[in-house]
Amino acid sequence: MIPHNRPTIESEDYKAIDRVLKSCQLSQNSEVFKFEEEFEKYLGLKKGSAVAVSNGTSALYLALYFLDARNKKVIFPAYSCSSLAHATKLACGKADLKDVEKNSPNMSIHHGKSGEIVIYPQMYGNISKLVLKKKVSIIEDACQSLGGKVDKIHSGLQGNVGIFSFYATKMITTAGQGGMIVSKNTALIKEIKDFLNFDMRKEKKFRFNFQMTDIQAAMGRTQLKRLNNFIKIRKKIFNLYKSLDLNLLTINKNEKKINTVPYRCIMLCKNPKKVVKKFREYKIQVINPLETWELLGNSNNFQNSKKLTQQTISLPCYPSLTSQDLNYIEKTINKIRHEF
Ligand SMILES: Cc1ncc(COP(=O)(O)O)c(C=O)c1O
Repeated sequence: MIPHNRPTIESEDYKAIDRVLKSCQLSQNSEVFKFEEEFEKYLGLKKGSAVAVSNGTSALYLALYFLDARNKKVIFPAYSCSSLAHATKLACGKADLKDVEKNSPNMSIHHGKSGEIVIYPQMYGNISKLVLKKKVSIIEDACQSLGGKVDKIHSGLQGNVGIFSFYATKMITTAGQGGMIVSKNTALIKEIKDFLNFDMRKEKKFRFNFQMTDIQAAMGRTQLKRLNNFIKIRKKIFNLYKSLDLNLLTINKNEKKINTVPYRCIMLCKNPKKVVKKFREYKIQVINPLETWELLGNSNNFQNSKKLTQQTISLPCYPSLTSQDLNYIEKTINKIRHEF
């Protein structure tokens, strides 16, 4: 079976993890600090603008906690990862779900009133140019859009805070789980770093452990070095599907200033269940990227989101797909396309 997704693990990753294991410094140490610095450089940020954490959900929770989400309205789309709802609940915010825009996996860029917080996920690497408003805090959720840009600015830097996930199958991984929080507000990042550093502190201040380990960071560093190449390969795969005349979900088709990263290749089709089954007969795993029951609220209140869940499948798109895999997928698509 050709899997729908798979991390890209290569000799550099093994060597990096081996180096940390041999050093016996397994918890947080210099690898994490170097990873933070290298991540800052990649995004074009100054030193002290990034803090590594245990995963994307903890990054989101910490961003909400430090933006003082308690009792505030927190806006996010019904069509997104459930971690947004969990983090909001834990931070005691009041979730306010919105529909996505028509034929888009992203919500409107205009949501948010004074005193509110907006979590804006850039879904599947489709990047929307965000609008900043006075007294509205924006968390740009770049968990699926690392490496994408708007007007040469990296995704994750458009709002007050940006968050990233390094889960196993994200754009890069830090050994299965990991996350990063970035902000141009270095005082905020300093506060978060202090919050995470709870051991041997004399003052009795509330802190918590959401730390990344050196093993995670060592792999993050080797993956980050290859990120631009990963993106190139993903773009090639996306263009291959496009050349097969598939109906791919993509926003900003004619927007030259937006550099989308194909985290997922989403195809619109009439009957996803049937198409998933058909591919499976040919030993290719495609999935419905988000089922109707996974919407974060009652699907009847979010018609655009509901429609997307009923009309989409996600095709294999990751750097470790071989040219043999791709040839076979192409042949299969040509054989079964009448089912789409
Ligand atoms: C858009 C989005 N936000 C947040 C998360 C949470 O990240 P993590 O799985 O690292 O906790 C994910 C990942 O699944 C995601 O896709």
